[in-house]
Amino acid sequence: MFLIICFENARQVRSLHQSAARAGAGGIFVHRDTPDNNPDTPFEFTEENKKVAEVLEVPPMRVYEVATFYTMFLRQPVGKYFIQICTTTPCMLCNSDSILEAIQNKLGIKVGETTADKMFTLIEVECLGACVNAPMVQINDNYYEDLTPKDIEDIIDELKAGRVPPPGPRNGRFSCEPAGGLTSLTEPPPGPGFGVRADL
Ligand code: FES
Repeated sequence: MFLIICFENARQVRSLHQSAARAGAGGIFVHRDTPDNNPDTPFEFTEENKKVAEVLEVPPMRVYEVATFYTMFLRQPVGKYFIQICTTTPCMLCNSDSILEAIQNKLGIKVGETTADKMFTLIEVECLGACVNAPMVQINDNYYEDLTPKDIEDIIDELKAGRVPPPGPRNGRFSCEPAGGLTSLTEPPPGPGFGVRADL
């Protein structure tokens, strides 16, 4: 999904956009003008954006309210790999702190920072909806789940080497089935028509 909100008055054109990489880059949750992010910052739609953009005439404050509340709106440039670590309660109880620490040590950055080579940005986010596979991180579009500190270090090593590791659980689970194996519905599902009278 690609969303552009643009507001325009006599002298300013601003845009906010959401793309594959999400969030507010760990920045503050209010808008503060910076030298490269202020009402006079020039902006031009690309030809591609013009095809999908809806231009809204809304007050700038309305745009700021949305952009500073939802972390999926990027308000600062981020690295090539945008790491969002969930530290909400289920992940925290599964030791997301150890994953966060491993990322920070591995990359030498703190939450909200980008590596000097602009390869990695790290932010901390609320629940990403994969609690059953906690602890987990999202890197760009991919979820990496059931993580240990070594798993996340291996994932970062792969990304540094130019390879994108397969997403999903890292503990052998296929998806979100019970970690200890199935306890019900253990047989293959019956085919269409099972339990239905032949004359119906
Ligand atoms: S609490 Fe981490 S994904 Fe839900």
